[in-house]
Amino acid sequence: MGSINGREQWSGRLGFILAAAGSAIGLGNIWRFPYSVAEGGGGLFVLIYLIFVLAIGLPVLLAELALGRTSQRNPVGAFKALIPGKFWPYVGGLGVTTGVGILAFYSVVAGWTVGYLGKAVSGELLQAQDGETSNAIFTEFVADPLWPILLCGLFLLLTLVVVRRGVSKGIERAATILMPALFVLLILLAIRAVSLPGGIDGFTYLFTPDWSKLSLNVVMGALGQALFSLSLGMGAMITFGSYMSKRENLWQSGIFVAIADTGIALLAGLIIFPALFFANADPSAGPGLVFVVLPTIFNQMPLGALFATAFFSLLAIAALTSTVSLLEVVVAYFVDEKGWTRNRAASFVSGICFALAVPSALAFGAVSGLSGGEDGILPFGLDFLTLNNNIWGNYSLSIGAFLICIAVGWVWGVPKLLAALEDGDDRRFPMPGAPVVGFLIKVVCPLAVLTVLIFIIVTGQYF
Ligand code: PHE
Repeated sequence: MGSINGREQWSGRLGFILAAAGSAIGLGNIWRFPYSVAEGGGGLFVLIYLIFVLAIGLPVLLAELALGRTSQRNPVGAFKALIPGKFWPYVGGLGVTTGVGILAFYSVVAGWTVGYLGKAVSGELLQAQDGETSNAIFTEFVADPLWPILLCGLFLLLTLVVVRRGVSKGIERAATILMPALFVLLILLAIRAVSLPGGIDGFTYLFTPDWSKLSLNVVMGALGQALFSLSLGMGAMITFGSYMSKRENLWQSGIFVAIADTGIALLAGLIIFPALFFANADPSAGPGLVFVVLPTIFNQMPLGALFATAFFSLLAIAALTSTVSLLEVVVAYFVDEKGWTRNRAASFVSGICFALAVPSALAFGAVSGLSGGEDGILPFGLDFLTLNNNIWGNYSLSIGAFLICIAVGWVWGVPKLLAALEDGDDRRFPMPGAPVVGFLIKVVCPLAVLTVLIFIIVTGQYF
């Protein structure tokens, strides 16, 4: 780890890439992607998602990294330093708030992975021979009034410990070991899943667009998923970029992170959907999809319990490197802008997130009545966790990404963006496609996001 002007820095290019990939790769790829695909009807969702990753995700990722590295600040400070006008720091503020909003439901699902790790170790998952039993195990687990809260609290505590140790010591180390291990395990699981009876149907489902499924909600879901999965629209990549030195090539790092993240999501799809068709499970299983489907394929593998244990351990660590980046955004804000100590900020923010997470942790048990039936008080018949997932994970990130594009494309300006991307201490890193990225940031991305949002407001089809 190095430090410049007292601000921590990644130990080098690899440290940054692993940490940024660690932020991007998480439950978004393995839990949220498959279940959004299922809700969006399969291949069509995947196609739109891939287009958004390329046309919106990658340019916004580069823009966030450039803002962060140039300003060496948290999201609020970055806007204050680089973009003239009183309004812009509020965009950073929206990002910081979104960080809290996402952490408050993400940590609940992260807690579930730890619970499932326990079930894998104890052998309970071996009972999940078919979709139905597996579903019963999941439903009982999330309906418990205590465990989901305790596990979520435990997860936030782990996140707090890592963030308190500081960016590079805490985050880099976890990511270095995890990434390759997770990748290898996912490949093995995908091979097993695709070769199961019915596996090919899952493959077809994932890659054949059914145009009759096209709807505003599918487009919005795919946009939100592209941003969520790459950790964009709330300044996580501004914050991570701020710990980067001028020596590194932003182009290469950004492109690598986008490819790794998207590859892992597709791999997760290649595991879940073949397994789903094999287990005859319901594709509309909602947020429980992965937890219901996966145990059934572990039971089709030699050493299944071992695979299950390895999988849920790695998933929990992948989730941890993401929760760390979420918490880090908020902590960096309090440290840079309010002068708090890192310890104080991290403890305070994770405490708040825990309190806010309780209703989501109870969403499928004690407070499940809030969403359904005649006396449900939550809008759109959605449970509390799903509602938060949609509000913060789709809408807030999309609005954030739109505003970041306007700030960078129109106020900071494309020439400054491109110069920042090419900047290195002693060399320049030009890129042949640079003007295309400028055009995407300035015109295509904001226009596309705005069009989707306006259509949704006009038609009232929010979810
Ligand atoms: N990208 C992370 C994941 O896929 C989630 C995340 C979203 C992290 C936004 C930081 C900011 O799990």
